[in-house]
Amino acid sequence: MKHRNFLLALLLLPMTAMATEVKSPNGNIVLNFTVEDGRPTYTLSYKGREVVRPSHLGLELAKDKHASLGMNERDLMTGFTLDKEETSSFDETWQPVWGETKDIRNHYNEYVATLSQQWRSAPPAGKPGMRLQPQQHRRWITIRFRVYDDGIGFRYEFPQQPELNYFLIKEERSEFAMAGDHKAWWLPGDYDTQEQETQECRLSEIRGRFQDAVNWGNSSVAVFSPTGVQTSLQMKSDDGIYINIHEAACLDYATMHLELVDAETKALTTQLQGNSNAYTPNPAPSDYPLPQPFTFVSHLTPDATGLKGCMQTPCETPWRTVMVSDDARDMLSSNLILNLNEPCKLEDTSWIHPTKYCGVWWEMIVGRGNWHYTNDFPSIQLDKIDWTKVKPNGTHKANNENVKRYIDFAAKNGLDEVLVEGWNVGWEDWANMWKRDVFDFVTPYPDFDIKMLNDYAHSKGVKLLMHHETSSSTQNYERHMEEAFNLMNKYGYDAVKTGYVGDIIPRGDHHYSQSMNNHYLHVVKEAAKHHIMVNAHEATRPTGICRTYPNLVGNESARGTEYEAFGGSRPDHTCILPFTRLQGGPMDYTPGIFVTKLSEWSENPSWARITIAGSLALYLTMYSPLQMAADLPENYEKFDDAFQFIRDVACDWDESIYLEAEPADYITVARKAKGTDNWFIGGKCDENGHKSTIKLDFLDKGKKYDCTIYADAKDAHYETNPQAYTITRRVVKDGDVLKLTEAPGGGFAVSLIAK
Ligand code: NOJ
Ligand code: CA
Repeated sequence: MKHRNFLLALLLLPMTAMATEVKSPNGNIVLNFTVEDGRPTYTLSYKGREVVRPSHLGLELAKDKHASLGMNERDLMTGFTLDKEETSSFDETWQPVWGETKDIRNHYNEYVATLSQQWRSAPPAGKPGMRLQPQQHRRWITIRFRVYDDGIGFRYEFPQQPELNYFLIKEERSEFAMAGDHKAWWLPGDYDTQEQETQECRLSEIRGRFQDAVNWGNSSVAVFSPTGVQTSLQMKSDDGIYINIHEAACLDYATMHLELVDAETKALTTQLQGNSNAYTPNPAPSDYPLPQPFTFVSHLTPDATGLKGCMQTPCETPWRTVMVSDDARDMLSSNLILNLNEPCKLEDTSWIHPTKYCGVWWEMIVGRGNWHYTNDFPSIQLDKIDWTKVKPNGTHKANNENVKRYIDFAAKNGLDEVLVEGWNVGWEDWANMWKRDVFDFVTPYPDFDIKMLNDYAHSKGVKLLMHHETSSSTQNYERHMEEAFNLMNKYGYDAVKTGYVGDIIPRGDHHYSQSMNNHYLHVVKEAAKHHIMVNAHEATRPTGICRTYPNLVGNESARGTEYEAFGGSRPDHTCILPFTRLQGGPMDYTPGIFVTKLSEWSENPSWARITIAGSLALYLTMYSPLQMAADLPENYEKFDDAFQFIRDVACDWDESIYLEAEPADYITVARKAKGTDNWFIGGKCDENGHKSTIKLDFLDKGKKYDCTIYADAKDAHYETNPQAYTITRRVVKDGDVLKLTEAPGGGFAVSLIAK
């Protein structure tokens, strides 16, 4: 580890100071920072080209909302002087508990600006005739930048001090002024969901596309502006620069969205027309002038009171990140977000493991079975029902016989765990009733013998994977969590899938607020005490916290495979997610659908726009240490030769090499399985098909490999012929070339087993 301080303390620069320049280690990225007319301002360039034009930094405070903030409170926006500048550099290589690579290099140049505000306020009221002096105020903050070869991160830090102790955030106003009308892959900004299809258009077209981009049918929707978008936001400039804006280490703070200032923007808080079912009125318009067009301004998720942050110093914001490169592959291989998170805080991580699993799940999502046990009650009150006397509906899938079938399937195919949803009482009226006490997380339905099933699984070398759907009643979950985790420990569960469907209880709060982000982290920390891994669905989008708490092995937090049963997603969906949602951490995408036309085995007319070879590719292109084989055992049995790839593929890696990438078009990646000499390659493409030429120059020199190629057949097509694949085998060595053709909506998967 290297850490050097080489410049200290430039005192009280004039207001129009020359900007300070900080370069990335290889010099390609240049950050400039200055305080202009009292406002902190930065720019960013890449290989001499403008990426972020002059952009202001600051925070508006909720001045009238806090008892301890008097009339003298000011925003942290203007009137700053630059008191001190410090630069240093850092270079360290660390090893993640699980990941895409064995080693991660964290190499940056750091710049820290200390800024102060001073002002005078009216003298305090005194007795008539007394002459009191005006009061003098001074407070300071720091802004810390880290400049990497693949982008930057910056955050605000608030040291503890008499004039900055408790404060409330009305809005963070970090600007990202784009240098052009870039192409963007975006989701509508929403305080409660990120389960939309990605939109692809120029920045100037976002407003016109917004209304149709919203997933109005979702169980909790709260959009806030017709130019509000989510992060991670992927963009591409006309001259081929890829820019990605996101955040890292969002801890004790609200999730950030971005609001675009375009030609029509009147005020940043323009209201949106729509029937958002959890709509919260926006706070009052900002007091500060609008920035230039094509500027994104941060927009935080409010809590139930409309406030965006309740802060106590010393504290800091999450890192705001801008990744930049002229090679799309760098967007995927970047470790910027992980690097900006704190090192692992868990002392013992031996119990955390990559996991392949199947589950009693897809048949309920598709509609062939149910989570609930009885149809006999219009509603349920947990403490008033004797479940042994209730009439079963006959469609409850978490029953002993069915669960055993999945355990047998997992054992036969080397899968580690079996998720069982619908095992616990309460599913009869679980969603969207704004009911607090939906589940107790410990009482199984009468047809789910928790002891017998866990014993049966363990006897076959398999574990059950717990499910805690909270239906967003976090109050209820926090009350029962300790007991629920104790139950898991008692029966030998070591992983839980949590869920947050519907509007949040306490009512009025949002999925991505500061208080909810604290809830998700609380669950992860409590779970760690019980040696439990967490996979949270509908929780806030990840920001690399899995580095610090590696028992957070997955999140959904985007449109997952379940949508293939709700009308389907576009074929390019999975060629976008690695550029956007996966930037902050792995996604429990639940891939592996082989029988894509659901009407082949159910009454559901929906279908997945992917070929079987494409489904196999997702185990490589959608990185996750937790991978599901989501289709039914009987569907896999029909295509057992293709299922061999799912049996073989690893989900933890020593090395990953992105061979080809273009957002929404194609992604090809080669990965070396942890602790072995074996490689796996996956290629996934959009609706247009793709041809790949892969030079195997990353294989060990002199070694031979048994190579199995699972490819789309010549006439394969995601719509008309999704099940047409070929499996070919050959022996290959370093330097050989594979030429592969991906069908529309297809892909390929290759295993290379060292001989
Ligand atoms: C939504 C989750 O994403 C899905 O996987 C789960 O089955 C349902 N909620 C029920 O908890
Ligand atoms: Ca495309």
